[in-house]
Amino acid sequence: MAQNSARLKYFTASQQLNKKLIADLFARADRFKDGLKSKRRLNILNGKTLILLFYEPSTRTRLSFEAAMVNLGGNVLSTENAKDFSSAVKGETLEDTVRVVQEYGDAIVVRHTEEGAADRMAAISRVPVINAGDGRGQHPTQALLDLYTIKEELGRMNDFKIAFVGDLTNGRTARSVSYLLGKFDGVEMTFVSPHNLRMRDDIKEYLNKHKVSFSEEHDLRKVLPKVDIVYMTRLQKERMAEADFALAKASQFIINMENFKLLKQGSRIMHPLPKVDEIQLPIEIEQKDQRVAYFRQAANGLPVRMALLEHLLQDPGDYQ
Ligand code: CP
Repeated sequence: MAQNSARLKYFTASQQLNKKLIADLFARADRFKDGLKSKRRLNILNGKTLILLFYEPSTRTRLSFEAAMVNLGGNVLSTENAKDFSSAVKGETLEDTVRVVQEYGDAIVVRHTEEGAADRMAAISRVPVINAGDGRGQHPTQALLDLYTIKEELGRMNDFKIAFVGDLTNGRTARSVSYLLGKFDGVEMTFVSPHNLRMRDDIKEYLNKHKVSFSEEHDLRKVLPKVDIVYMTRLQKERMAEADFALAKASQFIINMENFKLLKQGSRIMHPLPKVDEIQLPIEIEQKDQRVAYFRQAANGLPVRMALLEHLLQDPGDYQ
């Protein structure tokens, strides 16, 4: 479902973005981030309605999309537990759901348990569909806010070293960010994971094809002093067998006070959140040490999602 037009009609995968689109979205996000300081509600999307269908739990993605739409002057219709409380329970297909729901609003944000669900909806929908996480597939709006955070924190999107740590088989955020970073020069990736949760081949093939340097490593202590970004991820317990979870848990890929000191001063720890016990730093360190970037990262979800909604919903007549 990749496309490279000047304007997105839907957003289901990181590969859809090119550098021009990213620059456009980040310029909008910068403007909104400045504007958010004055707490002024804008009227850019007056009269527009965003529909959120969440078949999986969420705190950040759902609430920041809702806040983004309200800040832009639009309205929100939201179901936070569609798996149990929508007509999916009665057996309604996604294709039927989207053909009904598109009549009630101007864009649909969907989080679903199945990989490819957002693409299925985008293929039939008259209104833009945004993938807010599809099973083990992708989470492209997270990737966008992650890249925005890297740009802010390091001051560049080229020429840096990043380690992805944790569950790289099931973690859709690391997958989406890898696709996105593959578009920039001089990015060196290291995948650090338990043996049973390694990065899948589709991403490695993409990186090889785009001549992106990557390696796999099992010793986190060896990697930490070398990288500019440590991108931690949660073990996706809900997406693996108990035996796999126990094996991965025993591998102990965690950041704590003992290995935190190995990090370079100018480096950053990122995490899409929620975190469980893969980061074990005291709150005082999280509050004071500039290397802890994950709460600033989560905050960037708001201006970045405002930028995306403005891009998708303002002047829809201009779509190519
Ligand atoms: N990062 C992220 O997707 O968080 P939520 O699951 O809380 O939306």
